[in-house]
Amino acid sequence: MFRKILMSNTGGPEVLEYKEYSMQEKINDEELRIEHQSIGLNYIDTYHRSGIYPLPSDLPICPGIEASGKIIALGDKVNDFKVGDRITYASPPLGAYCEVRDFPANKAVKIPDFIDYDEAASITLKGMTVEYLFERLYTLKKDEYFLFHAAAGGVGLIACQWAKSIGARMIGTVSTQSKGDLALKNGCEHIINYKEEDVTSEVMKITKNKGLQVVYDGVGKDTFDTSISCLDYRGLMVSFGQSSGMIEKKDLHKTFNPKSLYYTRPTLMHYNLNNDELKLSSEKLFNKIKNKEIKTNISDKFKLKDASKAHMKLESRNTTGSIVLKP
Ligand SMILES: NC(=O)c1ccc[n+]([C@@H]2O[C@H](COP(=O)([O-])OP(=O)(O)OC[C@H]3O[C@@H](n4cnc5c(N)ncnc54)[C@H](OP(=O)(O)O)[C@@H]3O)[C@@H](O)[C@H]2O)c1
Repeated sequence: MFRKILMSNTGGPEVLEYKEYSMQEKINDEELRIEHQSIGLNYIDTYHRSGIYPLPSDLPICPGIEASGKIIALGDKVNDFKVGDRITYASPPLGAYCEVRDFPANKAVKIPDFIDYDEAASITLKGMTVEYLFERLYTLKKDEYFLFHAAAGGVGLIACQWAKSIGARMIGTVSTQSKGDLALKNGCEHIINYKEEDVTSEVMKITKNKGLQVVYDGVGKDTFDTSISCLDYRGLMVSFGQSSGMIEKKDLHKTFNPKSLYYTRPTLMHYNLNNDELKLSSEKLFNKIKNKEIKTNISDKFKLKDASKAHMKLESRNTTGSIVLKP
């Protein structure tokens, strides 16, 4: 028997229960059977758990969309992998919070030798997110200022390093001095502690009252209006998450017309729509790690059975960098 996290209801962290299960013998033709070594904890897991994102199937369901592990068996039509390969993935179908699972081969990538299992599970999803946000959704330019909320978070610390590697000048928001120090250490150029300073005024000071061409906002409800006010004419609001809650309804004309702004609400899965895009995104990320432009920041490791504690910690706003779950 194996063990996994199963949720029979949506709700608080307590709905994450540790249960036994067995695997069917037959593997689907185009799938890999993976023995997980490390599982990535992502904010999206809390949206699935709480029910603010719709679930793809009826309950009970095993959550999680990111993990790394070793291939222990293959479907009959899998050609690109062999038993023993080390792989990582960051995509639905849900079900990463477990010891062993079957997963579509075309959504997995091999882990290069210089990255270990915990590093892979901590950075595949968050790192490919920064890749598409900074290089494909909008191409950040050298010397360009931009705003990024939660600069010391999991995605945030990768953003700091990626920005530095291309010479873009990140203005990051944080809630504490120590988070600010960490973001600066990782390459963020300016820190705004939003508990003590007014974010818009600080951005206007830095940009000499011009404002920004792009703002990346993964906090959502609490930061939306501030983000909009930091943009220059024809600026782009990239709303890529909602750690503080869903953005309330907005008057489109009043929000976007005064500066002819653009708005997008992107998702990693739509920027890695096929295996070519997945390979492109993961290779760019792995190359940045190989060149030592980006390193992983794992702040905590929890046992898989303690997934509920890990969710509580992530939602407490007291974390920096990434958290992994150990099967
Ligand atoms: N669209 C995509 O493709 C995509 C992909 C990956 C992640 N995301 C999004 O990126 C964001 C960051 O994800 P992550 O896993 O790296 O999380 P994280 O940034 O490590 O954690 C969330 C951080 O948000 C800040 N925050 C501000 N208000 C908050 C509130 N009311 N409750 C909780 N946190 C609050 C906190 O930082 P401070 O204390 O410094 O404010 C907190 O540490 C999430 O919104 C996630 O959904 C989107």
